[in-house]
Amino acid sequence: MPSTTPLRYAVVGTGHRAGMFVGGLLDQHADVGEIVAWVEPNPVRAAVHEARVADKVGGTRPVYGPADLEKAIAEQRVDRVVVTSVDNTHAEMVARALRAGVDVVVEKPIAATAAEARVIADAVAETGRDVTMTFNYRYSPRNSSLRQVIASGEIGQVLSVHFDWALDTVHGADYFRRWHREKVNNGGLLVHKSSHHFDLVNWWIDDVPTRVFASGGRRFYGDDGAHETDYEPTDGERELREQGIDPWALDVDGDEYLSALYGPEAQAHDGYVRNKSVFDAGITTEDTLGLVVEYAGGAMLTYSLTAHSPWEGYRVVVNGTRGRAELEVVERGSVIFGDGKAILDPSFTDAYAEDAVRPVAERLVVQKHWERAEEREIVAIGTGGHGGGDDLLLSDVFRGADETDPLGRAAGFLDGLRASGVGYAGNRSLETGEPVRLADLGLGVDLG
Ligand SMILES: NC(=O)c1ccc[n+]([C@@H]2O[C@H](COP(=O)([O-])OP(=O)(O)OC[C@H]3O[C@@H](n4cnc5c(N)ncnc54)[C@H](O)[C@@H]3O)[C@@H](O)[C@H]2O)c1
Repeated sequence: MPSTTPLRYAVVGTGHRAGMFVGGLLDQHADVGEIVAWVEPNPVRAAVHEARVADKVGGTRPVYGPADLEKAIAEQRVDRVVVTSVDNTHAEMVARALRAGVDVVVEKPIAATAAEARVIADAVAETGRDVTMTFNYRYSPRNSSLRQVIASGEIGQVLSVHFDWALDTVHGADYFRRWHREKVNNGGLLVHKSSHHFDLVNWWIDDVPTRVFASGGRRFYGDDGAHETDYEPTDGERELREQGIDPWALDVDGDEYLSALYGPEAQAHDGYVRNKSVFDAGITTEDTLGLVVEYAGGAMLTYSLTAHSPWEGYRVVVNGTRGRAELEVVERGSVIFGDGKAILDPSFTDAYAEDAVRPVAERLVVQKHWERAEEREIVAIGTGGHGGGDDLLLSDVFRGADETDPLGRAAGFLDGLRASGVGYAGNRSLETGEPVRLADLGLGVDLG
């Protein structure tokens, strides 16, 4: 894709996540791409990003409503579209962009439901155009290192993976404060969040998921969840409440970027409230989930997601025919409060303290049969976010996939379907109580 003339980009959906792509096109990748239009129903949110671009490169870029996507593409001679809108709008916006003659970069998940994913699959088949998925977790050095260990064959053929992902009471709770709390908007956490994790497993073991059995539900949040009916506050929560702090609430006003995107001025346009109570009635997204997934090559995955943990991170165990690899990651060892408010930034944690019981850490251990365990170094690949991973992702997205990458980190449309497909099958299994084959989801594509 490198070209002498920068590609002309439209950004569809100018909320929080759009910022990463806007930053990439303003900084490292300004020579290969420029933003020429915004497609967004809320002019206040679009103006936040427009101000940033104008500040850096000058000029003005028009804002179009979602109904005018095709008009934006034609009038602004758009070459490529970045879709960072609400999940259940991905299918329509991606399919329309493809049919309007441009390639698309879309944030995960590819679509909220199997039927919506089918809409994209049909548009890809019809137009032959390209859809790039952004699975940023692949690029974290620790995840790349595990892929390297498995691909080297040193633990042999993978027979099983056990994956436990814990979202804490700040980040996990955040999925219950806004549109994510209604499953119709994002397919629930099995699709919205876990599709990242399913993609990691698919990529780590280089295999294709075939059948899913799921169990779980909304157990903690909501007006009738365990927190409301059964819950005895901890001493930590009591102390915070005595200081006048509600640890479950998010202080949007106290954060400049959040209040610009979601404050009263933005709210006045569409009623989008960023910080609803996580104990409201009507929440349909599940918070406690477990899955068994079978793979074409014979491996199986057991997976667990908890969205109300006191610390955040994950543990992965990979059992092979010659040994075992274990990856443990602590992203936030415990939650503390800066200036009396809950902070989404994971660097606000006492886990960086030298005496922290659960320090922020990552550890990859490999042990082969009849040998001692070895800890493997996790090498950062650059200076940007996620140990340099974010820089590499943006480079693949804006400069074209690095075909020589031995780890094959760039993700395509099929990878997006394989990852979200596990979530769609999981959701169907939750509804029916039966195992569900991905081949029966009607995705319209052979997953391989
Ligand atoms: N890869 C990651 O780690 C990661 C992290 C965060 C979010 N995301 C993804 O990015 C996307 C956006 O998330 P966010 O946190 O920025 O949400 P957000 O609510 O902050 O932003 C979404 C924006 O889309 C707009 N919108 C709604 N319908 C639209 C339509 N039809 N056309 C255009 N715009 C529309 C909304 O007004 C809003 O401004 C989601 O798909 C989410 O899953 C990915």
